[in-house]
Amino acid sequence: MLLLSGPNMAGNEWKYVKDCLDTGWVSSVGAYVDQFEKMSAEFAGTRYAVATSSGTTALHICLVMMGVNADDYVITPNITFIATCNSIKYTGADPILIDTHPGSWQMDLDLLEQFFTEETEQRNGVCHYKKDGRRIPVLMPVHVLGNIGDMDRLMALAKQHHVTVIEDSTEALGSYYKGKHAGSFGLMGTFSYNGNKIITTGGGGMIVTDDEALAKKAKHLTTQAKSDPFEYVHDEIGYNYRLVNVAAAMGVAQMELLPGSLNENMKSRHFIKMNCRVWAISASRKFMLM
Ligand SMILES: Cc1ncc(COP(=O)(O)O)c(C=O)c1O
Repeated sequence: MLLLSGPNMAGNEWKYVKDCLDTGWVSSVGAYVDQFEKMSAEFAGTRYAVATSSGTTALHICLVMMGVNADDYVITPNITFIATCNSIKYTGADPILIDTHPGSWQMDLDLLEQFFTEETEQRNGVCHYKKDGRRIPVLMPVHVLGNIGDMDRLMALAKQHHVTVIEDSTEALGSYYKGKHAGSFGLMGTFSYNGNKIITTGGGGMIVTDDEALAKKAKHLTTQAKSDPFEYVHDEIGYNYRLVNVAAAMGVAQMELLPGSLNENMKSRHFIKMNCRVWAISASRKFMLM
């Protein structure tokens, strides 16, 4: 029996959290938030990272920034955690589920290609579902249990059919495809720091991107869209989706441990053979039997 995930607080967690408690920097801003974002961007190989209150809220903000709404669909695989679909439903859009390949536990790209070819059409450079004419602006692959499929092919399909890729890489911290980190292929990628993830902040998430404007927008939207540093001026509907400094302090300590806790093999793999059974023995703990 291998523990799929369990919090490992073997580093500076106590020290950094105590620092927050001692200094009073426990809440919505602080040096640990900035440091955690910097470390996360560096690790994922992206230019920017924006901390969020969870992986779910990270996904939601990405979709909001893409303007996804009730007239839209978002393509995603049929094996994932419910939060992927919840984040889509928050925008009013509906998920289109593509079957997962049994070998990789990733979206079956033959089926995805077939779907694009047979069921969609382009209108003014935007992908639409033929059946009802609704837009399909976003493709959201999910790197389930750290597995990554053929990202070259997935990205090529997305480009060909004019859909933006937002990666649900919440389960894939430390996973690479051809040396490139999960979450860095799409326009944006997301991570989760829930208790059952590779590292944890108790609860938390991250958006990673190379796009400066999107990173700034994500920070703005996740902090109530406050447009003045002093006055309570808000220029659009914002969200309270920040990661608090005391949680980010744990995150910094966890990031320090991360390189040492990753198997070197992960750097070259793009999927592991999934001839295993996975089940949940409680709401928050999963164990994997190989
Ligand atoms: C595939 C997937 N998507 C989204 C999430 C949501 O992350 P969080 O629990 O941090 O909101 C999770 C993790 O729980 C997940 O496994």
